[in-house]
Amino acid sequence: MCGIVGYIGNKNATEIVLNGLKKLEYRGYDSAGISMITGGKLETYKKKGKIVNLENAYDFSSKISNVAIAHTRWATHGEPSEVNAHPHVSSDGKISVVHNGIVENYLELRNKLQEKGFTFKSQTDTEIIPNVISDNYDGDLLKAVIKAHKVLRGSFALGIISSDEKDRLVALRDSSPLLLAILEDGYMIASDITSVIEHTNKLIFLKDGDIVDIKKDSYKIYDSDGNEVDREVTEVDYTDESASKEGYDHFLLKEIHEQPKAIEKAISLRHNDYVLNDNEDIFTKEELKDIEKIYISACGTAFHAGEVGKYAIESLAKIPVISEIASEFRYKNMFLDEKSLVIFVSQSGETADTLAALKEAKRLGAKTLAITNVLGSTITRDADKVIYCYAGPEISVASTKAYTTQLIALYFVAMRIAKAKGQIDDADIKNIIEALEKIPAQIDEILKDKENFKEIAMEIKDSNSIFYTGRLLDFITAKEGALKLKETSYIHTEAFPSGELKHGSIALIEPGTPVITVATQSKITEKTISNNQELIARGAKVISITNRGNDFVKDASTNLVEIPKTLDILTPLLAVIPEQLIAYYTSLSLGNDVDKPRNLAKSVTVE
Ligand code: M6R
Repeated sequence: MCGIVGYIGNKNATEIVLNGLKKLEYRGYDSAGISMITGGKLETYKKKGKIVNLENAYDFSSKISNVAIAHTRWATHGEPSEVNAHPHVSSDGKISVVHNGIVENYLELRNKLQEKGFTFKSQTDTEIIPNVISDNYDGDLLKAVIKAHKVLRGSFALGIISSDEKDRLVALRDSSPLLLAILEDGYMIASDITSVIEHTNKLIFLKDGDIVDIKKDSYKIYDSDGNEVDREVTEVDYTDESASKEGYDHFLLKEIHEQPKAIEKAISLRHNDYVLNDNEDIFTKEELKDIEKIYISACGTAFHAGEVGKYAIESLAKIPVISEIASEFRYKNMFLDEKSLVIFVSQSGETADTLAALKEAKRLGAKTLAITNVLGSTITRDADKVIYCYAGPEISVASTKAYTTQLIALYFVAMRIAKAKGQIDDADIKNIIEALEKIPAQIDEILKDKENFKEIAMEIKDSNSIFYTGRLLDFITAKEGALKLKETSYIHTEAFPSGELKHGSIALIEPGTPVITVATQSKITEKTISNNQELIARGAKVISITNRGNDFVKDASTNLVEIPKTLDILTPLLAVIPEQLIAYYTSLSLGNDVDKPRNLAKSVTVE
């Protein structure tokens, strides 16, 4: 949520930060801006909308500089507009700040500063920051930032420059992600690896409270009291695969098609000849055996993955699992202790709600396991144990390959817990892994059916509401389908457990209302069929996603999407693929920005 990048060194900072900023655009894209020291002066340029608008509005070729900061925004306080875009500059025009996070006490501070004569132009919380720094400034930017930090409350990743100290860039990390990158001819600060990796793989993942004082050829890191601290330089093994759409029109379509390969990798790394291996640093067999309670927490699509994980652990390990939305977890009574395991799922590893829940779980003494896709993300440092999705960079805001690879990671976690608890044997594990190994080819088969998904998209695109239904695992897949379609098409969608319709929601059905039903679970298919008939009797267009050859479902549907057969427990991996493609083609047919839907951001770093 908001991307920040900065550079100081011997090269042209303006060019470096503008290029870096483009890699961060997935974090927010309602406005963008840059400040640089050029010709001895601090200059700031901002524009509403995407980075391309900023580049088209100004000629940056003459803005040669050695220090610059830039920002791409996802609005929290104040509408998307030029005046609310970052960087924000102190009212004396000397200090410029880019910020990712929230200032919680900005109103109180603003009143105090206004009494002292400071003036404000925007509706943002961030504009308070350069002014608090300015209020504490007496010739040393670092000292002013340390003092300002003590009065600001909230979450911050900051890049700060001043026209009074032209060869200095100060950065701060507190509860929002920020890294320092060491280049051959300078330094960068950035919200994540993607914007710096073309320059260097030498990174310092800053800790909360770290303040960095950077000059062209040196840097020092201080804690929040101004004591110098040492931070390890990590050489990351990361290649930037995200650069191109590789012939696809959109990242979303590319990422949907990357699922078979990503899943294959995520499976093959976790077993040798159908025996679970120790490639991942997960808890020991003894530790897993002792676990009495399991919780899973996450947001959005990652939460749906967690719910499938809950089902898999309960079915295989026979231990109850509670799934809890991360933004609720932190404020609820969670009965955790050292015999509890909490699994956190997050593609980005930076979601503020998930990180806050993780902090709470640790405070209560629980064991924590993170499942993430992003190497070096905050969650990888905060959780006790980490396992990766191996999906490769996911750029489209709508999550697809991260979801299916999260499912793979969770199926393997479920098998490990079940094995440790003595609930499954090697033959059961082999059976599941063999079925998993067929999934990539089965997804390829579904992907070939795209004409059908295009037709469905054309049929539903003008609807006011589209409903999704299913039971058990199918209900989770229904929820994921509803989320995927609403975030990309902006059509109102909602998912209901099929059996709940008659308790109220069926009143919403009118002649022609599309209902997408997921019917893959053998033990309840008959019940779902009856619910489909109830819908059809009231005029609904029922599009069923079901296992191939299921003629009974066919008879109770107005449109059918068939998926290959697999184990019941693994069907979420297949049933979600048609949903992803229906979302893609619907968004496309409506002329929406498929990869960057309105009002959203890929990485949600505010609570
Ligand atoms: O990075 P995370 O997995 O923690 O993100 C969680 C959600 O914000 C994310 O899954 C969101 O729901 C996606 N836009 C769904 O496609």
